[in-house]
Amino acid sequence: MGERKDGKQKKKGPLLDPALKRAFFYLKPYKKEFSLVALALFISTAVGFLQPLVIRAITDEGMLRQDMGVILRSVLVLAVLVLISQGVDLWQTYIFADVHNKSYYAAFHQVFEKLLHLPKAYFEDKNNTEILSFLQMDVSQVSSITDRYMVMSAGYVFRIFSGLIGLFIISWKLALVVLAMVPVKFFLVRGLSKRREKAMDEMLESSRDFSRWFGDNLGGVDEIKLWNLFKSREEAFSRQQGALLKLEKKGAMIDGWNTFWEMLLEWSVTIALYLLGGWLICTGSLTIGAVFAFASYSGYVTGPVSALINLKMFFARIMPSARRLFQFLDMETERDKGGEKAAGRPPRLEFQNVAFSYEESRPILRGAAFTVEPGEKVAIIGQNGSGKSTILNLLLRFYQPGEGEILADGKDVESLSLESYRSLFSVVSQEPYLFLGDILENVDLDKSASPERIEWALQQSGVQGYLPRMPEGAKTPIGRNGAKLSGGEKQKLAVARALLKDAPVVILDEATSGFDVESDAYLHDIIVNQMQGKSVIMITHHYHNLAGMDKVYRLEEGVLRQVDPEDVLEN
Ligand SMILES: Nc1ncnc2c1ncn2[C@@H]1O[C@H](COP(=O)(O)OP(=O)(O)O)[C@@H](O)[C@H]1O
Ligand SMILES: [Mg+2]
Repeated sequence: MGERKDGKQKKKGPLLDPALKRAFFYLKPYKKEFSLVALALFISTAVGFLQPLVIRAITDEGMLRQDMGVILRSVLVLAVLVLISQGVDLWQTYIFADVHNKSYYAAFHQVFEKLLHLPKAYFEDKNNTEILSFLQMDVSQVSSITDRYMVMSAGYVFRIFSGLIGLFIISWKLALVVLAMVPVKFFLVRGLSKRREKAMDEMLESSRDFSRWFGDNLGGVDEIKLWNLFKSREEAFSRQQGALLKLEKKGAMIDGWNTFWEMLLEWSVTIALYLLGGWLICTGSLTIGAVFAFASYSGYVTGPVSALINLKMFFARIMPSARRLFQFLDMETERDKGGEKAAGRPPRLEFQNVAFSYEESRPILRGAAFTVEPGEKVAIIGQNGSGKSTILNLLLRFYQPGEGEILADGKDVESLSLESYRSLFSVVSQEPYLFLGDILENVDLDKSASPERIEWALQQSGVQGYLPRMPEGAKTPIGRNGAKLSGGEKQKLAVARALLKDAPVVILDEATSGFDVESDAYLHDIIVNQMQGKSVIMITHHYHNLAGMDKVYRLEEGVLRQVDPEDVLEN
């Protein structure tokens, strides 16, 4: 959205920071609500304008003339005015609560959508705690742009005008005293807001580092116990929290100084008013009631003017989050430009001279080539770290090849829509993820399969074999990422859900490494003999699993060589 110049414009930028400008877009859908708020503000301003006049009447015409009738009538009017303005306030609160909820939801929803479509690489150097914590923080900061405070401030313009009218009607001399505070406050805030923004930025980064560290240690809690790392972790904790709290204090103190100066300023104005007002009363050019009314109007001006100028402080707090959030939202999602749909049958898959590296300095594949004809069963073998899983990452379009091409039925896979392309594959990855929930929920991920098919998948994968031992059978909760299952049981579950997907191409990445011998042989038999018409790509270190495969490739030094399974078995 909008062009942004390269490099950060630090010094004299445009009036509004681009990130801030973009944050204002979250206000856009609420035009109707804001016109209601404008109406409410107008009403409460009008009511507010009348109140000091009534008070003046009570003082000058009621109290000073000792006329109880005037006092009673005026008090009644005052009560009605108060009721109206408080009622309108309540109504505004309602509208704002609604708008704020909706905009928070909209922003968070946008973030969630984005997150799910980011490339695999994004997640490889971050942990979940870190991601959740910084996104949540940024979303809530940015969506605070729809806070009541922020929009009310816009309405303060009415109030300031009405106050100014009141002030100048009563005494222009006093009015000038009040106005003298504006430039002082302005320059004060200008100085402080820069520091506030910097403090906020540092705090966000530090809190992100902390969440990252925290999530990491939660993930490794078993290791902390086994290696007895408590002391070092506690030290690190106090170090990080200490730094974070220090930054938070710094931010709070900047706010504190702002309030301090603001109060000092307001009291200076008040003292000046007493002085000048007293003098005007003594010389007889103003009544006591008029001075009271003046004091009220002056509150209408000083308070809102401060609030408007304080918006700069408010934005200073939002800005670092806005920048981070929009940077996040501008990240490129997974490549999905192709419009063609993949056919619902096994395509002829082909790697042509594919070169790839995660990091520039270290090539993983250097011209890998292989083909999988429709219905063919192909095995890939090779040492740890030779790049076997990398081949699958490329095939499944989690990464793009640096050189060469990956083709499906002779067409570049990128010409196919990602969704339809990935629906071609049933994958058991090397480290499958299991969701919270029970066994059944993890097998039938989208809750669409018939009981018979589920039964079949449980049977074939070998899950059926251990279900009787489970306290609640297929309804047994499996814990975080299957923590309540053994390694082999987890793998069987992953196989079951891949079978249930029933896609034309089956991919197994060391999928049976944790299987016991019988289960492995059983599943292998199914793969080789009962999956007619499906293509299979199997990565394995169990060489007996090469039996019955149509082709075997060995990955070595970044290239694939077709080998004879017999030779492999003999060596
Ligand atoms: N996301 C990644 N970023 C950087 N390097 C990676 C990444 N994934 C794997 N590697 C490196 O690439 C090499 C090949 O990994 P992989 O394909 O997983 O090997 P394997 O043949 O054991 O499946 C490994 O040496 C590993 O260090
Ligand atoms: Mg691997």
